[in-house]
Amino acid sequence: MAKVKVGIINVTGYIGMEVARLLYQHPKVELATVTGRSAKGQKLGEFLPHLSGIDLTVKADLDKVDFVFSALPHGENVAPVVAALEKGAKTVDLSGDFRLKDAAEYRKWYKIAHSAPDYLKEAVYGLTELNREQVAKARLVANPGCYPTGAILALAPALKEGLIEPDIIFDSKSGVSGAGRTLTLNTHYAEAAENVSAYALDGHRHLPEMVQELQKLAPKSKLSVTFLPHLIPMTRGILTSCYAALKAGKVSEGDKGKQEIRKLYQDFYHGEPFVRVVSVPPQTKQTWGSNLCLLYPTVDIRTNRLIVIACIDNLVKGGAGQAIQNMNLMLGFPETMGLDMLAVYP
Ligand SMILES: NC(=O)c1ccc[n+]([C@@H]2O[C@H](COP(=O)([O-])OP(=O)(O)OC[C@H]3O[C@@H](n4cnc5c(N)ncnc54)[C@H](OP(=O)(O)O)[C@@H]3O)[C@@H](O)[C@H]2O)c1
Repeated sequence: MAKVKVGIINVTGYIGMEVARLLYQHPKVELATVTGRSAKGQKLGEFLPHLSGIDLTVKADLDKVDFVFSALPHGENVAPVVAALEKGAKTVDLSGDFRLKDAAEYRKWYKIAHSAPDYLKEAVYGLTELNREQVAKARLVANPGCYPTGAILALAPALKEGLIEPDIIFDSKSGVSGAGRTLTLNTHYAEAAENVSAYALDGHRHLPEMVQELQKLAPKSKLSVTFLPHLIPMTRGILTSCYAALKAGKVSEGDKGKQEIRKLYQDFYHGEPFVRVVSVPPQTKQTWGSNLCLLYPTVDIRTNRLIVIACIDNLVKGGAGQAIQNMNLMLGFPETMGLDMLAVYP
């Protein structure tokens, strides 16, 4: 059978180039065309030597393909995604441009009007583990943000079981690749190295999609979510510590309660190829380069608070890897195809 022809819009950013790297080992697709504003006309391997095994010239526009990954900064993906869909290509958008269902929310958080709001209804939120059936039928998937991926997977089991109060805190630490390749002052080496800083204290753009998706798991309660991101001097990875009070009487007291929570999480994610409930608190390095989300649920017995630690590689499970996981479902391939790699460690 002929391979499926795939295109990447914006291979010059960290996410686009990571999609290219991962697709190189996919047995059923051919990376046929890539675009990139600043690299137009250059050989991909000359512009990005780590991709020199891929023999392609970077173009201004995609050639005709069957499947598209769009990885432009937010606000820039709407027109090319709509164009790809109209030409019959299934598409995964990796930005925030199709994640929110409500165009007014998009305008509020992204500070621009959405130019194709009808597509917001159609787009499936591609957190694969929670929306697998819809993803498999979708023509357009909105790949989740890197922070929401770990955060939502971390609290989904407890919320769905009605174990926690609706007041939730996500405390996240991200490596600097999360901010992309475009140069900014706060990701400058002298600003980011040997330094830790909190940012977006008045609300990060990933907050509304966290609320939108978590609310679906607990439709009877009105969630109150605090999300506080931090920048950490490392290249890849996000560690999110999640906190929520356990409802009275829902789990046993003491260590028995910890075991019950752990069993709930193991059952919820049983058979999931990319979510592991681990027995010690995970570290970001244990996910580098892999499509894994590592979760460690426990209970602070003194305060009866659920604590879940989640680790992902922001560029893989938080971006390119999850996008390929979704592509596999959309094209009827095994979900793990081309993604079956271990983390790079140390
Ligand atoms: N980084 C992550 O961890 C992560 C994870 C999940 C999702 N995402 C999302 O994925 C998308 C790409 O993120 P990224 O981290 O790859 O960004 P990035 O590394 O900063 O790349 C942005 C690239 O886009 C190009 N660009 C900027 N404005 C453009 C425009 N108007 N038209 C064409 N090209 C333009 C720039 O290329 P030139 O100026 O060189 O042409 C730059 O190389 C974003 O929407 C982001 O939110 C990122």
